[in-house]
Amino acid sequence: MNRKLEQYLHEHSTPEDPVLENLFRQTHLRFVNPNMATGHLQGKFLEFISLMIKPENILEIGTFTGYSAICLVKGLKPGGKLITIELNDELNTFSQSYFCRAGVESKITQITGNALDIIPQLDLIFDLVFIDGDKREYAEYFRLIIDKVRPGGFILADNVLWGGKVLDNETCDAQTRGVIEFNEMIKNEKNIENVILPVRDGLMLIRKKA
Ligand SMILES: C[S@@+](CC[C@H](N)C(=O)[O-])C[C@H]1O[C@@H](n2cnc3c(N)ncnc32)[C@H](O)[C@@H]1O
Repeated sequence: MNRKLEQYLHEHSTPEDPVLENLFRQTHLRFVNPNMATGHLQGKFLEFISLMIKPENILEIGTFTGYSAICLVKGLKPGGKLITIELNDELNTFSQSYFCRAGVESKITQITGNALDIIPQLDLIFDLVFIDGDKREYAEYFRLIIDKVRPGGFILADNVLWGGKVLDNETCDAQTRGVIEFNEMIKNEKNIENVILPVRDGLMLIRKKA
């Protein structure tokens, strides 16, 4: 997007929470691929979606430094829980420290490990799932999670435009192929409906039919 327009969006949206602003800055100073962190506009959008759904249980696949988890947790029903799974154990201390700074640590269960192994062990029904892990695994995450989403519940999937590379059907790039496979699979699923919004890198909203 045109830089001036992006600046306009920021100037005319509620300012970023200071804890998230600090988390975002520190992520950029201390980690590789800091652009994986959700950031202000999409983060606020995730927060609003969560506030609208008022979920009891949220699952996040791909914590990274915790930005999106802190946004999503804000919409939980009283007594609700967010489970977030991250493969890279070096991120754990950092994200946990920000969950504490944001005052949401008691509502978040952080699990370190591979979501493909962990999801089958989760004995919970989720009202909201945020898929933001390895793009090559999106289709598999969906297959593992769909029976654990309550009828009428929602799944959000990030980066489904993958910088526009999804238009290149001939690509051999594994991540792009993963996103293309996921988008095609969702298009042919019978028990859901979905919409892709051009928010940031493409955000897909999926609703499991009641
Ligand atoms: C795009 S980042 C997540 C960004 C985060 N949701 C946010 O918005 O701030 C993707 C994360 O998924 C993690 N990841 C990749 N494959 C995974 C897997 N199979 N299980 C759990 N985490 C995984 C990566 O280590 C990385 O930290």
